[in-house]
Amino acid sequence: MPPVIEAAPAKLNLALHVTGRRADGYHLLDSLVAFAGVGDVVTLEPGPLSLRIEGPFAPGLPVGDDNLCLRAARLAGGKASIILTKNLPVASGIGGGSADAAAVLRGLARMGHALPPGTERLGADVPVCLTSTPARMQGVGEIVTPLPPLPTIPLVLVNPGVAVPTPQVFAAMDRRDNPALPPVPHLASLADLASWLAGTRNDLEPAALSIAPPIGQVLDALRASGAAFARMSGSGATCFGLYDSAGRARIAATALKQHGWWAVATELAPLPAPR
Ligand code: C5P
Repeated sequence: MPPVIEAAPAKLNLALHVTGRRADGYHLLDSLVAFAGVGDVVTLEPGPLSLRIEGPFAPGLPVGDDNLCLRAARLAGGKASIILTKNLPVASGIGGGSADAAAVLRGLARMGHALPPGTERLGADVPVCLTSTPARMQGVGEIVTPLPPLPTIPLVLVNPGVAVPTPQVFAAMDRRDNPALPPVPHLASLADLASWLAGTRNDLEPAALSIAPPIGQVLDALRASGAAFARMSGSGATCFGLYDSAGRARIAATALKQHGWWAVATELAPLPAPR
């Protein structure tokens, strides 16, 4: 059997409202989630469970038993040797471990292992990353409502290289009872998306900014580079800018790298076909 290769695209919270808090301390979210044309890659082969991590962001990512790829495979009862190619910065608000875990579960499903229930316990973003198509995400991540495809919009992802632990960001929030997202209309263009996003927020952005001020510099630089819209994703620190042309996005990414930041030009994209 040839290796099963699954893309683990970067997840973007285009809008993220924090609408309440459960008794167990977890926060209720209402988020418009979409996926980018860049991501990690998971390669699976039948065999005893093992994990090797390679790629630009492999250093510093532990291969221990609690790695989400291994936890996902154990939850599915899957026996596979896993190679994770880590192209995206770690713990940076764009899905990371959840995207990788979802790719492992998708790959194992192609190898005959049923998708296990309760995947949100691996990470709040695992259920939405399992679809890897635009969706509204609610609850603590377990309620996923697929949305129609979004247009292919050029975008730039930027990470300033500061770690912002997610629990610390949630703890630094002022309000946890914000209104839900406004209804999501048909979004046919960058103009449609930017005007809808203007009426939404990432409620984690002010809290993350208070912990990691470089996020503010990234957002200012994205806006100065011609982004039609810029915002932080998830609990940060990665931010995204939406552009009206791929050329403008590429030029912006080149300029943003001059700050010493990780920056990549890509687009809002559907999940690449499995190989
Ligand atoms: O599930 P994930 O690994 O993304 O969550 C990391 C931490 O973020 C949790 O341990 C929790 O402290 C916080 N969190 C939360 N409410 C959510 C998701 C995460 O408070 N809905």
